[in-house]
Amino acid sequence: MTARRVAVIVVAAGSGTRLGADLPKAFVPLAGRTILEHALHSVAGMARTPHVVVVAPGHLLAEARTVLERVIGSGDVVPGGATRQASVAAGLALIGDAEIVLVHDAARALAPAELFDRVVDAVERTGAGAVPGMPVADTIKRTDASGAILDTVDRDTLAAVQTPQGFPADQLIAAYAAAGRSVTDDAQLIADAGHPAHVVPGDPLAFKITTAWDLHRAEELLREASVTRIGVGTDTHAFSDDPAAPLWVACLEWPGERGLSGHSDGDPVAHAIVDALLSAAGLGDIGGVFGTSDLRFAGAHGDVFLSETRRLLTEAGWRIENVSVQLIGNRPRFAPRKAEADAVLSELLGAPVAVTATTTDGLGFTGRGEGLAAIATALLTR
Ligand code: CTP
Ligand code: MG
Repeated sequence: MTARRVAVIVVAAGSGTRLGADLPKAFVPLAGRTILEHALHSVAGMARTPHVVVVAPGHLLAEARTVLERVIGSGDVVPGGATRQASVAAGLALIGDAEIVLVHDAARALAPAELFDRVVDAVERTGAGAVPGMPVADTIKRTDASGAILDTVDRDTLAAVQTPQGFPADQLIAAYAAAGRSVTDDAQLIADAGHPAHVVPGDPLAFKITTAWDLHRAEELLREASVTRIGVGTDTHAFSDDPAAPLWVACLEWPGERGLSGHSDGDPVAHAIVDALLSAAGLGDIGGVFGTSDLRFAGAHGDVFLSETRRLLTEAGWRIENVSVQLIGNRPRFAPRKAEADAVLSELLGAPVAVTATTTDGLGFTGRGEGLAAIATALLTR
């Protein structure tokens, strides 16, 4: 059996009245990304590659398209309606020839990719709707309009349902076309149309961000899940025998100073930083990544190595928090250009870099003036 074609509709057109931010809810920042971007990252993590439709407020279509293209690569963006139901209907018009359709609230920003996969698998296996649900922990009372308790509902028969909800596409399209009332989830219209649907295990992370408290909880969860890594790197180069060799240290040229020997420009500060960054990220070291036989790097200055290292880290999901480097040697006199070096390196890495320098009291190869060394530490988060 070939796998069914899957579409995911992400509804993000609500205003977020209960959240009370000055932006529509899906465009509110959460740990440095929008709520919509988090939701799309989960979709991007699915085992299948679905067709993705984002339903957005009419005045934010361009923003929605930018994040859709960045996170998923392709898909459709369509303006929503006045209700969630109208927004889903707008999205359904763009699912093309998909056989299984998932409808997901952007507001459930932390719903894991595995939950999407579980729903797709259940629809494929049963040929019927699949709705993630959580057991209800509280005792539930039925009350009258005045609040007087009438009875207790047996919570074992209840499920608090979430999204993504998945359905055979033809069933959901027909159910929407025939909709005779307004509902708050898609499974209600499927039931109205007389189709079965089943609850599959939900995920606590698929909670809906509704109020400011929920947004705060999502921030905390992301903060706790973030990973911090430290790395160390050192580098040493001997002064060159060639009196005309220029000196490059910390991505700056030092006119009038004796140069260093090395395959590239011999910049020990830049090379120690690269090793610290690669080590923190678990990506190996400068020799392995840049290879001394690679002609692209022969004579290259530190900026080439630092920019490429930054790109590799970003690709692997790492963010550079800061870098600290110490240069060891008698010359050049570093202090007068420290601010310049810090600025150039910080710009190259997009993170604060601080360089200091020290001598070794006349001891060792640095004390004898035979060469320079540098030690760097780097802190990354993901
Ligand atoms: N939604 C939508 N179009 C609407 C209303 C809601 O696409 N006209 C989407 C929301 O963007 C959200 C999901 O449906 O991702 C669930 O709705 P809800 O949490 O109620 O979001 P809002 O309607 O934006 O919030 P509120 O009810 O507090 O205004
Ligand atoms: Mg709403």
